[in-house]
Amino acid sequence: RDEFYHGEFPKKFGWGTATAAYQIEGAWNVEGKGESTWDHYTHNAPCRLLYNQTGDVACDSYHNFDDDLAIIKELGLSHYRFSLSWSRLFPDGKLTSGPLPDGVRYYNDVINKLIAANVEPMVTLFHWDLPQALQDEFGGFNSSEIIPYYLDYADFCFRTFGGRVKYWFTFNEPYVYCTLGHGLAAAAPGVFSRDQIPSKATPQCEHREIHRAETNGIAAFAPGHYSPGEGVYYAAHSIIKSHAQAYHIYNNTYRESQKGQIGITLNTNWVEPMTTTDLDHIEASQRSLAFSTGWFAEPIFNSGDYPDVMIWNVGNRSEYYNITYDRLPKFTEEEKELNKGTSDFFGLNHYTSNLIVPCSYYPEEGPTYDSDQVSIWPPSASTWLYQVPWGIRKLLIWIKRTYGDPVIYITENGISEHHSDGLDDDIRVNYYKNYINEVLKAIKEDDVNVKGYTAWSLMDNFEWAEGYSERFGLHWVNFTDPERTRIPKKSASYYRSLAGSGTYVR
Ligand code: NOJ
Repeated sequence: RDEFYHGEFPKKFGWGTATAAYQIEGAWNVEGKGESTWDHYTHNAPCRLLYNQTGDVACDSYHNFDDDLAIIKELGLSHYRFSLSWSRLFPDGKLTSGPLPDGVRYYNDVINKLIAANVEPMVTLFHWDLPQALQDEFGGFNSSEIIPYYLDYADFCFRTFGGRVKYWFTFNEPYVYCTLGHGLAAAAPGVFSRDQIPSKATPQCEHREIHRAETNGIAAFAPGHYSPGEGVYYAAHSIIKSHAQAYHIYNNTYRESQKGQIGITLNTNWVEPMTTTDLDHIEASQRSLAFSTGWFAEPIFNSGDYPDVMIWNVGNRSEYYNITYDRLPKFTEEEKELNKGTSDFFGLNHYTSNLIVPCSYYPEEGPTYDSDQVSIWPPSASTWLYQVPWGIRKLLIWIKRTYGDPVIYITENGISEHHSDGLDDDIRVNYYKNYINEVLKAIKEDDVNVKGYTAWSLMDNFEWAEGYSERFGLHWVNFTDPERTRIPKKSASYYRSLAGSGTYVR
């Protein structure tokens, strides 16, 4: 299975790169922009950040989009995926506070310049930077009261930009947003809600180090190493409802005239059972997929409701377990119907795989990762990211089988290096070479309907709580230079030749 496959990608296959507003734009408080939860979190919760860094300036793309455009053009790509900052358009998140002319001008400029360069804009409405005012008023997505405001914002974006934007993503990685932001407080909005067994209860600010210790540093935020409290499930619930309703707004009001597509981007690690002879390991792997991807994908692509194992283990049947309580909200029958079939494609962010064994602390949700993965799989600069190229192929086959053979856009894939690593990023060249080859196998040999691939990221940027210490870019950014010069790494020229020819450069 590790053999290199020589061949060509389908003719119209899309090649792109991705970024997100808070990670690149900077200009956090210019021209009326409101505070986002990430502005708030980085300015007020330094104990949770690795190096006390912020996205106040980041790559300064707000002032330097032409530099981004130049490297996008140089790569010769078909699409560019980026996100809109809600509080740059509506400072407090509500229509009454905007739209801010400079925010609209900025995104119009980005979109128009991409189109003029023959690059398709792919736009994410929500990549984690919620207007802080909505967090303060409603507890953010923890409350369903936020939904109408998200829908107003989405509707405004379709109306204003949708004549030119043909690919919309409602949410980016809601799983990560909910578990890190509303569970472990390891990301904005920094809410802590963990269904703890008493001996593991930790004060909010200490959770990060304790969590690292608990997990032997394997994966500080590994799902399954903790049991999300009900706040996490409520946030996910409002996000799914917001997503489904935004889809229907687009479908009913804009699709006919704008002729675009709309969907969601979900993150998924492949999960390999530690052994395939032990049924518990296989069951834990399946449960892990249900409690991560299935949590969102089952309502959206299949039944309209949560996966059975979630309902059984943390929903209404949970009286069968004595250490848990009912924390999975319920969809009404009408909501289930509204959820179903609300993504025109499966947007997939994938980076890594895990070796799975059952977890004894949290038997309902908790599969856990075996420490062996550390020694057998090559690492990266991120504690959670191992290089496992064949994992993406298995995952693509699993998505095809589980969710009715959807069109799949790979919306992120990539690897991090440390701050000190320079332009000769052979590790990234190899990562892309091997992962993309597995994608090609999935298309050619397994008939998976993958239509496009997007590398994360166009350039080094603000890697959330890890700040600038983990570099994912095809381009190196000098964060101490006021110009934030972007310099191509070796991987940029590799990706350019691959994307340009659609075939392999070995
Ligand atoms: C997924 C997220 O969407 C993105 O914001 C992040 O930087 C990458 N993963 C790498 O961790």
